[in-house]
Amino acid sequence: MSSEDEIRSKRTTSTKWMKYSNDVLPAWIADMDLGVAPAIADDLHQRIDHGDLGYPCADLETKFIDAFSDRYIEKFNTPLDPDLGMVSTDVVQSIVISLLTMTEPGDGVIVQTPIYPPFLNSVEHTGRRLLENPLVKVNASWEINFDELETLASDPRARLLLLCSPHNPTGRVFTQTELVKVADICARHKVLVVSDEIHCDIVYTPNYHIPFASISPEFASNVITMNSATKSFNIAGLKCSVVHFGSAELKAKYERYDAPVRGSITSLSLIAATTAWQRGGSWLQSTLTTLENNRTMLDEFIRSNDFGIEYLPPQGTYLGWLDFRGTKAAVAPEEYLVREARVALSPGSDFGKPGVGWARLNFATQPEILEEIFHRMSSAFK
Ligand SMILES: Cc1ncc(COP(=O)(O)O)c(C=O)c1O
Repeated sequence: MSSEDEIRSKRTTSTKWMKYSNDVLPAWIADMDLGVAPAIADDLHQRIDHGDLGYPCADLETKFIDAFSDRYIEKFNTPLDPDLGMVSTDVVQSIVISLLTMTEPGDGVIVQTPIYPPFLNSVEHTGRRLLENPLVKVNASWEINFDELETLASDPRARLLLLCSPHNPTGRVFTQTELVKVADICARHKVLVVSDEIHCDIVYTPNYHIPFASISPEFASNVITMNSATKSFNIAGLKCSVVHFGSAELKAKYERYDAPVRGSITSLSLIAATTAWQRGGSWLQSTLTTLENNRTMLDEFIRSNDFGIEYLPPQGTYLGWLDFRGTKAAVAPEEYLVREARVALSPGSDFGKPGVGWARLNFATQPEILEEIFHRMSSAFK
């Protein structure tokens, strides 16, 4: 089989592979081409073979929430009361419901751009006001502009900070010092923090993830934590996530959107996500090794390129945030790359104004595919 045929044979029916024509290599949406943990596949097969596809019992939800809170203790030394957790279809839905229930139309929502596009869309679609606190590139790091954050938080109608930690697309993994500063500013100005920690497992040493809810016991009641096994365990199509509230009051407020409006999830999703968190550890570890090697490949590609792409290696996530402004593809680089390289990246402009001239490259694929992506990009720029 030629390598082109081999690559084609790896296509799945996911939107990642189906959106573009067959000859385009996808490096856009955050799905991995690295399979799923055997424990997840086994458990799903068992349920299907048993014809066990009825409405899920409440116990499946309880087990899922328990698996989440056990994991936060074991992995991050952070106690999160399972009684304050709730199952949700997906993180983006939880963000929207949080905006609708925790804020009023016209209230200010702080977002640290460039940012995962649904953060921006959900603020716009709910009629809230975007307060942008762009990360700034200082020396070789993406930094929070704390002075600006303080100013934005002091807006009398600033109500909520949508924190992305680890941060998509820059891959920043925020330190304790940074998170304490954010918590301090938000607490002083009574700004609620919604912390999306979906990328918490994909973190490269020496960096490590710190849950926002662990910052201080006083502040923990002012946080809504969102997470999901779907990103780290490559099961995004199954849909299943958790929202954890810092207090019973916050949970009660969120529940104003009652269960039928919030929607429900399938038994297969609950089983897959619970298994991922309980028994997916060794698969995740080996996947992390692959991702770290891929990140090194990306570093080497960027360092050796002489066509002007700039980037800072991500501390977490499997996403490279690439600056094309110094290249001949400075305007809409993603369009140039599909046209000239037959490679699909995510358009940086979707991540807010600071993303214009940038594109996001998902390197969670097999090394031979990544090599082919780099080869095609190099040819397109020569
Ligand atoms: C920061 C962040 N939050 C949420 C999501 C999507 O999560 P869900 O599929 O649960 O809505 C993604 C997907 O890439 C993401 O990067």
